[in-house]
Amino acid sequence: MDNGRGPAQTRRTLNDRTASFEAGGRSRGLARILLSRRMTRSFDGGPNLVEVMRAAELALRAPSAGFSQGVHLLVLTGSDVASFWERSRAGGWFSTRAPGVLEAPHVVLVFGDAQEYVERYSREDKKSLGFDSIDRWDTPYWIVDAAMVAENLLLVAEENGWGALFFGVHGDQGSYYSDLGVPASAHCIGAIALGYRADSDVPTGSPRTKARRPLREILHIGSWNQGMEP
Ligand SMILES: Cc1cc2nc3c(=O)[nH]c(=O)nc-3n(C[C@H](O)[C@H](O)[C@H](O)COP(=O)(O)O)c2cc1C
Repeated sequence: MDNGRGPAQTRRTLNDRTASFEAGGRSRGLARILLSRRMTRSFDGGPNLVEVMRAAELALRAPSAGFSQGVHLLVLTGSDVASFWERSRAGGWFSTRAPGVLEAPHVVLVFGDAQEYVERYSREDKKSLGFDSIDRWDTPYWIVDAAMVAENLLLVAEENGWGALFFGVHGDQGSYYSDLGVPASAHCIGAIALGYRADSDVPTGSPRTKARRPLREILHIGSWNQGMEP
């Protein structure tokens, strides 16, 4: 079985590819989840809200800088999803490019609250780093932490046999987020559409037109110029 990842992928089966990452024999299955995960752009029904909340709870068990725990998930379901598509204007974008996304029964907004990180890093044990105001952060950990939670949710969805799509939410969302009660210091890194993958869903998006980069270009040993040979 080919997992449908596109022309650049080898014809090795998912079992073969998984096995090559599980040589230690102590695997608990993560390699399979990582190798089989792909974005879903066509949904047909989905888990109930309780199941989504359980998945979200699990996803929040991500690393957290200073254990700040300033990542917030805002789960939208039912009419709130319809409102999201309209008010965020993301619906217009998908309606012409991937309308199957609009069938997702749930959308989870992922936020990192900068203020909560500033407060945590202003405390005694962290203040020597000098991160006591937002503009001092060379790497904004609220974005890093939020991305980790987002990836967790994609992986939990895959583990549960669901489909998921992470996508960016762009433009000024100020009044919409404010109506949702989101504090001004919370930055939305993107949204995750969640549901069951429709039988008709096929891999779409950039992996169909762009090959996966060879490892030697992106996995370096010792120096940037030292790539890993296949
Ligand atoms: C930060 C980020 C933004 C993305 N934005 C979109 C988007 O707006 N629309 C979309 O269809 N996919 C979006 N994607 C999904 C990527 O296109 C997808 O992850 C990539 O092509 C690799 O495909 P795969 O996840 O199926 O392996 C986004 C992914 C990331 C990480």
